[in-house]
Amino acid sequence: MENNRKIIRQSLSNRIVHWGIAISTILLIVSGFGNMPMYKRYNIVKLPFGEFLGSFINMLYLHYLSAAFLCFFVFYHLFVHYFAKEFDILPRKGDVTQSFLIIKAMITKSQEPPSDKYLAEQRIAYAFIGGNVLTLVITGFIKMLKNLDSINIPNSINTIVTNIHNAATMLLILGLIGHIAAFIFKENRKMIPGMFTGKLDEDYVKHRHSIWYENLTDDEIDVSNNVTKEEKKFETSSM
Ligand code: HEM
Ligand code: HEM
Repeated sequence: MENNRKIIRQSLSNRIVHWGIAISTILLIVSGFGNMPMYKRYNIVKLPFGEFLGSFINMLYLHYLSAAFLCFFVFYHLFVHYFAKEFDILPRKGDVTQSFLIIKAMITKSQEPPSDKYLAEQRIAYAFIGGNVLTLVITGFIKMLKNLDSINIPNSINTIVTNIHNAATMLLILGLIGHIAAFIFKENRKMIPGMFTGKLDEDYVKHRHSIWYENLTDDEIDVSNNVTKEEKKFETSSM
């Protein structure tokens, strides 16, 4: 029988960080390409708001402003999860094999291996996107120093740093396309409400994230649907 009970998955803080990073990343990609500058060459400047995109100085200010927001969210995220000892999303041994099994099961509509709070491919996606974002923050900081009159960085270093900054941009864009493409699979779409309301359907969690479901903490059980924590705990442990 279907039930409409929910499991609490993403705290407000996590949701703010996810969307804060998503918006600042998109602005950094738009303004980074504007720094190259390529919007004039491809006539994008003739579109509405195009003039704004065509100005190098506007793009540089937008890049710096969104970089400041990105750095804030990234450092906040690292501190919060480090001190709360929450490491559920870090990759584990065997994640690559497990990801193939999950994707194969989604395509052939067969039984998936049991998953914890995050699927193996989500842990890999996190490391890939996070690794590229960190690389962009570090190389971006060095590029910023290069722009200061008082600091002199040799040309050879500037070239290496710029190449790494550009390569990480391309890899990040590929990662984002993969992240959005993951929602082509219907099963993955059930995770979308979690990034807006913070909650997921209990039935979905029970069948797909069964390891997490068996170990839910009191805080993750949503009691707003007239179910007490004790009742919910009892149901969980008698599965
Ligand atoms: C620049 C844009 C974005 C970045 C950098 C980003 C980054 C991430 C990362 C690193 C994760 C954790 C790994 C994973 O679950 O794959 C994640 C999870 C997620 N993201 Fe994004 N994301 C972006 C845009 C979006 C968009 C546009 C959506 C809208 C559908 C979205 C929805 C989600 C969902 C539903 C999850 C899974 C959360 C869960 O497991 O409960 N993201 N995102
Ligand atoms: C998602 C993150 C980011 C993306 C996708 C991105 C992308 C880009 C791109 C495509 C360029 C143009 C290539 C170039 O001029 O060398 C650029 C330039 C630059 N980026 Fe980033 N960037 C990101 C984050 C950052 C951060 C966090 C900082 C600073 C801490 C930063 C600082 C710079 C600087 C200083 C330049 C050179 C501007 C100039 O003098 O022309 N970037 N970025």
